[in-house]
This record gives sequence, structure tokens and C-alpha cells, in this order.
Amino acid sequence: MRITATSDLWWKSAVIYCLDVETYSDADGDGTGDLAGLARRIDYLARLGVNCLWLMPFFPTPDRDDGYDVMDFYGVDPRLGNHGQLVEVIRTAHDRGIRVIIDLVINHTSDRHPWFRAARRSTDNPFRDYYVWRDTAPPDTSDQVVFPDQEDSIWTREEKTGEWYLHHFYRHQPDLNTAHPAVREEILRVIGFWLELGVDGFRVDAVPFFIEDIERGAGELPRDPHDVLREIRAFLTRRKGSAVLLGEVNLPYEQQLDYFGGERGDQLQLQFDFVGMQATYLALARGEATPLVEALGRRPTLHRTSQWANFLRNHDELTLDKLSEAEREEVFAAFGPEESMQLYGRGLKRRLPPMLDGDPRRLRMAYSLMFSLPGTPAIYYGEEIGMGEDLAAEGRMAVRTPMQWNAGPAGGFSAAPPRRLIQRPTPDGYSPEHVNVADQVRDPDSLWTFMRSLIAARRECPELGWAPELEVLGQPHRQVLAHCCRGPEASVVAVHNFGADAVTLDVDLSALGEHAIDLLAHDAVELADGRLELSLEGFGHRWFRVGPPERISVP
Ligand code: NOJ
Repeated sequence: MRITATSDLWWKSAVIYCLDVETYSDADGDGTGDLAGLARRIDYLARLGVNCLWLMPFFPTPDRDDGYDVMDFYGVDPRLGNHGQLVEVIRTAHDRGIRVIIDLVINHTSDRHPWFRAARRSTDNPFRDYYVWRDTAPPDTSDQVVFPDQEDSIWTREEKTGEWYLHHFYRHQPDLNTAHPAVREEILRVIGFWLELGVDGFRVDAVPFFIEDIERGAGELPRDPHDVLREIRAFLTRRKGSAVLLGEVNLPYEQQLDYFGGERGDQLQLQFDFVGMQATYLALARGEATPLVEALGRRPTLHRTSQWANFLRNHDELTLDKLSEAEREEVFAAFGPEESMQLYGRGLKRRLPPMLDGDPRRLRMAYSLMFSLPGTPAIYYGEEIGMGEDLAAEGRMAVRTPMQWNAGPAGGFSAAPPRRLIQRPTPDGYSPEHVNVADQVRDPDSLWTFMRSLIAARRECPELGWAPELEVLGQPHRQVLAHCCRGPEASVVAVHNFGADAVTLDVDLSALGEHAIDLLAHDAVELADGRLELSLEGFGHRWFRVGPPERISVP
């Protein structure tokens, strides 16, 4: 596609890869992954073709929420390495054309953060108002807790002063008072610090919690709680024009629009599409495209710099909270019928391949679909090789097993003896012996090889990142999604079969152009009077570019 001045909106053409340093690659053999280990794997990521790395929290932490309980916003957890090694990771990634974004956890701190240690000492401590307190007994808030297995209230009484502090997540993660100007100043300083160190943006944790709660805090309230996000965005882009904010906002689409900054697009540039992700699982469970089409039809139109991040898995429970009770039960029945596979009554603790019974056709169709939807694809480490989960691990740890590099005992993740490993490798049929990078990179038919081609195809199809919306193309099969993403010069058409039976299709592409090529097979395709006729096997998928002949070729 033509390169223009606005092609610098790099997140529109990015493929994001998320990893946790502590489970990725252990260089010093102590059983915990580290930055030196990650630095050695950057060339692997470059070979896979991703161009944006999202590093999960690597800050000093008591590690009671996998690092999302931060003790020092400026530090590097000494178990993982130091600032020098982090800079080596960032520099090497940049050198290979990969941008680096990091988690920004500003809804809360660890209760061991020096601010909270000071704040809890007395009601007149200068840090008291960094957090949110109440001096009367709270009402029942059990329906507001995020982790109902551990907490039954979002308020916990602090013995020393007899007041209650707010925490949406665990009681050891007190919520920061973002209504307080001094806290907002601290947040900007943290952002400024990491930008100077070279990061390209932030994945912002738990955004609605610190926006919706601003009114609870004491201090000079901003006129509109979203001013906090506007202020962060303005500061971010003032300091580094190309930097992005990728927000975790698990809300219905209409509310997500507010977090982009609506028509002005002046808040988060990217947000995960939780609604689309959940609808995808419902569609996969039913073997029908309809739930996804309905959901994506509700996506609001975004400002041209705003973007959806499409995903099928992340490091948390696979939440199904936006589905109706009955729909959720359908997904549970299809993909996680046993209680040991479910979490918090709203999600699954499984990875995709075991849910699809390891069926390579379904798995490839699911990823092809995710990569072909308008937006930016984000994958979680191990998805490229089809890693499974460890159901015996506690809660969300099930999907946080070490990266599987080879068939060795610890999957090549670490040379440490098994008892010293941060987490045991995935067991059983998805163990490193069966699923690993070394075997798959050599195998032209492996999932890894498929994912690499898919990533390359996605990067060669800017239409998918720039298309304002999904256009569904008419065809008669409920189990098929035929959609189109229009670009200024050509369009990408993708066809996916959610069902096990083969189908034949006849799709009218005459409005898009007279010529087409198959983007995955790299073949020219005959259109008869602008109609595409094709047969699609069970769980089949195809991508085409359609347009004038001089605009549809791929190198
Ligand atoms: C969202 C993160 O994704 C999750 O892992 C974490 O537990 C909560 N935020 C609290 O930080």
C-alpha cells in the first residue's frame, strides 16, 4: 500500500507479542526467567515477525499478583536483572525493528510500596491522600470485587487508624487516589522516566477502575474524570510523539469509545477488544459466525488514530463476562466443562489448543480470523507454538507456564533443577517434549511456520489495520464469515469457515475490483464477472486482495 505521511501511526500495522520476563528465558540458571535471557531471544521474535513487544510488569514486587503489585515504579525486579539489561533488551529490539511497550499499573500499588507504608501510619501522614480512605463502615460491596475467590469487599480496615482503604483487586493492592494532583504528577513522572529509557508506550492496567473511581477520592477533582487520561496522553505524546497507550478496558463498546476520547481520539490510542474476543469464542463453540458478526457490528466508529487490539488469549482468565449467562454456559460446555477449567464463575483457565482438542485446522482458522479482523493483533507468548495450560496450577497461573524452547526437561527455559523452576513446565500432551520452538521452526507444516506466514501476511496487509470497520459480504452459510477491509487502493477479503463441513461459496466482489490474488497461497485468482467462487474445506480460511491489477500484487 502507498506510504503516506500518516503511515507513522505504527500501531495500526503492528503485531503485538506479550511476554512475562520471569517465564520466558532464564540466562543465569536460577530457575527464573530474566532480562539477559530475553535479550538472547529478540532475534527469535524478529524471525517470527512481530514488531511490538509488550513486557508484563518487571518492577520490584512482593509478587502476590504476578508483578501487578508494584513496590517501586522506577525499579527493575533484581530477580530479573537491572536497568542496564533492560536497556539492552530495548536497544536490541529497536535494532531489529521491534518496538517495546511496558505495563503501567497506576490503579494501585503493592501495600509494601513506600507510599502506602507511610500513608497507613496516621491520618495526617503526607502520603495519606495518595490512597482512598473512608472512616465509616462500608456497605456490602461483595458484588464489586474482581477476585471473588479471595476477597469479599473492596474496602479493608486498616488496624492502626481504624479507617478503611479502597482496593478493587486484592487487599494487598490499595487503589491510588488519582483525584489527588500529587498522585497524577507522580504518574506523569513515571511515564517520563520510562520514555527516557527508550520505551515506545504503555499497556495501561485496569483503566476504568482508576477513572470511574476518581469521584471517590479526596482532592481537587478534575472536571471530567477522563481528563486524567487526556492529561496522560497529552504528556506522553509531548514527550514522545510516536508513543502509544494500549488500555485494558473491559467494558461494552459504547463505553470504550469514551476511553478512546470519542471523536477527538485524545485518550487511549489502542484498547483490547474484550467483546469481540468473547464473541469469537461463542462463535467457535457454536460453529457459526453469527455471534461475531453481531458483536463486531456493534463496534463504534473510531477516530482515525484509534485502534482495536484483537486477541484470543492473555495472561488472565479468559473472561466471558460480557456474554449472557446462557451464552457463557455454551462456551463452558464446549471448551471448559469441568470446574477445574473455570475461574471466578466467569472465565476459563485454558489455552486455545487444548480447548480445540488440538485440531490444527480449527486452531489455524481461529488465528487467521483474529489476524484478519480490522484492528491490531496481539498474541501471548507460546501461542505461536500452540502451548497448553497446567490445570493443576493455581488460578490464572495455569496459563503462565514457562516458554517451551526445546524438548529438554524444562523445555529449554532454564538449566535449573525442576524444584527451582519458577513454575513447572506445561504437563502431559502439551509438555515441551511435544510442543516446542526448536522442533517447530524446522517443520514447514508446524503451527509456528503457519503463524510466521500469517504475521508476514498481516504486516503486508495494512488494509486490515486501517479499515474503519468490518464489512460483511453476503453469502448464504451461517457457519461462514466472508468479510472485507477496504483500503484506499485495494481491499482485503477474508473467508472463514467455523463449521466442520466443507462449503462452496459465490461472493460478489464486483464493487471491490476485477482482479484478485490469494494472499496466503500467493496465487492469482480468477473472478468471473466480479464473483469469487470457491470451495472451502471444514474450518478452512482464505485471504484475498482485490483491486486493480497494479495494486494487488505481493512481493
Ligand atoms: C489486570 C491484570 O491483567 C491482572 O493480571 C491483574 O491481576 C489486575 N489488573 C490487577 O493489577
